[in-house]
Amino acid sequence: MEINEPRQTADQTIRALIQHSHRGPKDLALTADQRRPTPGPGEYLIRVGSAGVNFADVMQTNGTYVGGPQPPYVAGFEAAGEIVGIGTDVEHPLPLGTHVIGAGPGAFAQYMTMPTAGVLPVPTGWSDAEALGMVLNWATALAALKPLGQIKTDDVVLIHAAAGGVGQAALRLARHYGARVIATASPDKHHAVRALGANEVLDSRHPGLADEITRLTGGAGVDLVLESVGKATLATSLAVAKPFTGRIVVFGAASGDATITTHDLVFTHHAAIKGLHIGALATEAPSLYQSLLAEIAALVTNGVYPPGTPQVHPLAEGPEVLRQLQAGATHGKHALDPWR
Ligand SMILES: NC(=O)c1ccc[n+]([C@@H]2O[C@H](COP(=O)([O-])OP(=O)(O)OC[C@H]3O[C@@H](n4cnc5c(N)ncnc54)[C@H](OP(=O)(O)O)[C@@H]3O)[C@@H](O)[C@H]2O)c1
Repeated sequence: MEINEPRQTADQTIRALIQHSHRGPKDLALTADQRRPTPGPGEYLIRVGSAGVNFADVMQTNGTYVGGPQPPYVAGFEAAGEIVGIGTDVEHPLPLGTHVIGAGPGAFAQYMTMPTAGVLPVPTGWSDAEALGMVLNWATALAALKPLGQIKTDDVVLIHAAAGGVGQAALRLARHYGARVIATASPDKHHAVRALGANEVLDSRHPGLADEITRLTGGAGVDLVLESVGKATLATSLAVAKPFTGRIVVFGAASGDATITTHDLVFTHHAAIKGLHIGALATEAPSLYQSLLAEIAALVTNGVYPPGTPQVHPLAEGPEVLRQLQAGATHGKHALDPWR
């Protein structure tokens, strides 16, 4: 392993947020004596500049994320930072000192390891915090809209949780691709969603949501739904998707799980329903994933994807940020600074 940290020793302790149970963010706590990780084969050691907070972090603390870590574990999995070490078996590594964005275990810490395969350089001129979301929120939104959602100009696209991390990226992209966007969000977030270009914004918790969307589309329904809320919205998504030509891309269930039966599909709901997990897509369809990353790089170059503006909190506030995210009380992307 190559290490470029003359002031550090390999066994130095670091600050990190440790999750001690599967009882949610209340059992997430700061420690100052976590051992610094060592990069294994095919991994970088990253000095974390900024760690991204995602709904999947909440799910992991509750033990509801399939294949998630067992407590006690260093929480967080998305970060941007500087390559300060390179493990063995890395072909054509990026140089030490390069700032990258990617995912790996234990991002809510001053140092973490990251598999080299999935990282992207932080765009020139961007800070680490500004790059957060690139390989998670934006890649997920892009995958949902394009290869799975088959978005076309003038499609009507329904985006749930449009004020959130993935939602804001999806909203910008859908408008860029020429769609009319009907967005849902909590009422106190409507202003932000409108400012991002949504054509209509509705309250996701309103009981008449499906009727309102039907009215807004003149009875025609929507071409594509980005479904990430689950229990609270799936019935609406199914009711408003156009029969036979409509697509519903399911990639989350922030309000809890929802079910659909074969009977429903045969007799009532005739839209195409597609599932998405961006990590699984990266592993099982690597060339498709690489094409998404290439498209994201082009979106950065042409200014469609601007530097992110996450709300950055000191590491010690991580448990409270996760509690707020769990309660649906956050707007946009949140991040943790492990050095504050
Ligand atoms: N499959 C994948 O690969 C993948 C990748 C990234 C994210 N995701 C999923 O995409 C969704 C968005 O992720 P994110 O990190 O960007 O989170 P987020 O959208 O910033 O936060 C979740 C949002 O869901 C909405 N929501 C509706 N009902 C809720 C409830 N009962 N409890 C909590 N929230 C509720 C809230 O917005 P309103 O208050 O405005 O309704 C809340 O702000 C999540 O479901 C996440 O699991 C999936």
